[in-house]
Amino acid sequence: MSDIIYMDNHATTPIAPEVLEVMMPYLTTHFGNASSTHPFGVKAADAVEKARHQVAELLGCSEAEIVFTSGATESDNLAIRGIAYACREKGNHIITSTAEHHAILDTCHALAADGFETTYLPVDKYGMVSPDDVEAAITPKTILMSFMYANNEVGTINPIVDIAAVAAKHGVLFHSDAVQGIGQLASDMETLGLDLASLTAHKIYGPKGIGALYIRRNCSQPHSLFYGGGQEAGIRPGTLNVAGIVGLGAACELSKKYMEIGKNSVTTLRDTLHQKLMASLNDIHLNGHPEQRLPGNLNLCFAGVQSHAHLAGLKRVAVSTGSACDSESVKASHVLVAMGVPNELALTAVRFGLGRYNTAEEVDIVADEVIKVVNRLRALAPEW
Ligand SMILES: Cc1ncc(COP(=O)(O)O)c(C=O)c1O
Repeated sequence: MSDIIYMDNHATTPIAPEVLEVMMPYLTTHFGNASSTHPFGVKAADAVEKARHQVAELLGCSEAEIVFTSGATESDNLAIRGIAYACREKGNHIITSTAEHHAILDTCHALAADGFETTYLPVDKYGMVSPDDVEAAITPKTILMSFMYANNEVGTINPIVDIAAVAAKHGVLFHSDAVQGIGQLASDMETLGLDLASLTAHKIYGPKGIGALYIRRNCSQPHSLFYGGGQEAGIRPGTLNVAGIVGLGAACELSKKYMEIGKNSVTTLRDTLHQKLMASLNDIHLNGHPEQRLPGNLNLCFAGVQSHAHLAGLKRVAVSTGSACDSESVKASHVLVAMGVPNELALTAVRFGLGRYNTAEEVDIVADEVIKVVNRLRALAPEW
């Protein structure tokens, strides 16, 4: 694998060496259950509370506002389902958008079977939600809205602060699937104005299978999805994944350190890759907002080149078509469809996700390989 260049950091990131190092003792000698009262348990519980502090520091919130989960899919389910059932007396209407991750969309679809109503707002050609549309969709029955911080496919950053102002004005709770934004963009919950936010460690150079849900104090507490022990104030029962939690905490602390340096250097590499491709290939189209976009995101349609053939041709580059979860599918990405990208063009989309460890040299190699593959495939296509 060492000769394959990894540019799929929206799907997942490698574990930072600093994160792995602090996790290791909790996979070996410090194996205690954080609920046990003997020294093994106390050691584990101390590590969990240190990690909770590290997450809270990144989010600018208090430790009591963090609930550890198995990742963002669970956090999204807990936020949407948990709040829906907790606030059922107040109303049954939830607002979200057509460009959300399936962890949100499918949870909302499932709630419909139980009498909840959902409005799926359209997004503009960049994949962005309009705060005016949000305001217009609110009814007296609206209890919750959920809009992602930054889109995992096209990187577009939603106007979270403006949407939060609308939510607050109407007394509606605001959840964000903030997986792709936290640790890369402003992450202070108070400034963003969020009531609930989902995050996951494996998008910020931490381990897979661990995440958290931020729940603002004084906000309605979501009903638990599970029955069991009383861990995490009963909101998320189950033996804590101590090593994972330690990894999440360390990843949060590290991402604070990297945020500014990382943002600038990753954006420069991303723009260099874009310029190199544009200089040598015609008919390539940028998906997502040209400026309000994640630093490492470059989602391009290469007209005439089916993305699965494109990816198969790339021998030294790991990138993705649409979202990783959909990479087996030949259906156009629901995000690109929601943005109004014509189906035929949407099927040519490739997502480059640059990250902390990519280099200028790698950008040169990736650009050369993509240009060669696209030219070769276009030469084979009759319409080219
Ligand atoms: C925006 C977004 N939400 C949710 C998820 C799911 O996260 P997890 O893998 O932690 O369940 C992902 C990961 O692909 C994502 O990008």
